[in-house]
Amino acid sequence: MTNYPPEPFRIKAVEPIRRISRSEREAAIKQAHYNVFSLSSEDVYIDLMTDSGTGAMSDQQWAALMAGDEAYAGSRSFLRLKAVIEQIFGFAHFVPTHQGRAAENILCAVRVQPAHVIPNNAHFDTTQGNILARGGRPVDLPAAEAADPASDFPFKGDMDTQALEVLIGEVGAKAIPFGMMTITNNAGGGQPVSMANLQAVSEILHKHNVPLIIDACRFAENAYFIQQREAGWSDKGLPEIARAMFALADGATMSAKKDGLVNIGGFLAMNDDELFRDVGNELILREGFLTYGGLAGRDLDAMAVGLQEALQSDYQEYRTGQVAYLADRVRQAGIPMIEPPGGHAIYIDAGQFLPQIPRDEFPGLSVVAELFVQGGIRTCELGSIAFAHPDLETGQMIYPPFELVRLALPRRVYTQAHLDYVGDTLAGIARYADSLRGFRITYQPKLMRHFTAHFEPV
Ligand SMILES: Cc1ncc(COP(=O)(O)O)c(C=O)c1O
Repeated sequence: MTNYPPEPFRIKAVEPIRRISRSEREAAIKQAHYNVFSLSSEDVYIDLMTDSGTGAMSDQQWAALMAGDEAYAGSRSFLRLKAVIEQIFGFAHFVPTHQGRAAENILCAVRVQPAHVIPNNAHFDTTQGNILARGGRPVDLPAAEAADPASDFPFKGDMDTQALEVLIGEVGAKAIPFGMMTITNNAGGGQPVSMANLQAVSEILHKHNVPLIIDACRFAENAYFIQQREAGWSDKGLPEIARAMFALADGATMSAKKDGLVNIGGFLAMNDDELFRDVGNELILREGFLTYGGLAGRDLDAMAVGLQEALQSDYQEYRTGQVAYLADRVRQAGIPMIEPPGGHAIYIDAGQFLPQIPRDEFPGLSVVAELFVQGGIRTCELGSIAFAHPDLETGQMIYPPFELVRLALPRRVYTQAHLDYVGDTLAGIARYADSLRGFRITYQPKLMRHFTAHFEPV
């Protein structure tokens, strides 16, 4: 049994939450067309929909907000963030963006053209969406170990480097404007990427003159896993490991709503001067001036502090320990999930949990809906609703490897009792899981359908 790690902080402000009745929850989810993105957060008791922008800021971050310099150009806040980004990431240039997908959009706008191919260990939905929106083809190349949810391989976020070589051979390096690595690999179960794999991918891409861009959302959690699990890194500090990861890349997209420990913010970093010029022009058109990029000066200051806090060892020990504790509760309930648990979430394997529901009736949504009705717990489907999409050339549906439900833990927000409540609710659902039914789509948009699609029970 995993011990619950004592929090390396105490609580200075509280936010009340309430649990509405079961009949109110049934009415609320029906009214939301069974899409939990349409629920009012007031009706949610424990919100595990995402770890993105939902964390609690520290007193130091709140204090930093007051120091924000709201000058349009060249603010002190920008310079403070610049110093931190240079220190942690080491890239020559960066622009702030309002969140991760804005960084992806700008990168794709200036570098992705129709028929371009972008390899990744696994694209997250926004990355996939931004590449598709420019006519590009996102290709996921997860390591073979990721195919077995029960395997306890320590770096299931790795890329299949052989598959990368084959892809480059097939489409030609000229068709690949950049390759990506997502650390940790959110779509693949929040699994970390090893330094050795990052190095191998970097070498292959660079041999073909293809730049490597890291999707760095959870870089600090990834650095912690490298320290804990990879030979040769246990005596290195997290900042040193982070620096070594980014030294292998040519740039990074960042949603600071994760390991920047802020509620909003992100950036796009790079070494190439020409790319920086193109990015800057696009940024000014879409986001804002080079030194604020769609954010307030105070947001830049909170991000500068948060990026450093995310690299503190006691924080990471608590953070990953909390995920491991919830994983233990899920295991005890006999519910299949991606093993070993990753850095920010538990991923229930709904396809295996509810074998009576076919993929096109979305077993993941069935788990998501039941967790809300039963316990007021909001989670997120990361299976066919989020990721299945038609192939650009053949029109055939490409399905993700698993029908997952993500229970993401907001940073520094919930306590042991909250996690026990989630574990108890899951254990209750496991007892009648074979009676759960699937769903059909009644409305869907063309891209990123999971945010706004409507459903009804089959
Ligand atoms: C791996 C990954 N990349 C990109 C993003 C997009 O970031 P944002 O939500 O800030 O646009 C996310 C958000 O969840 C993510 O998990």
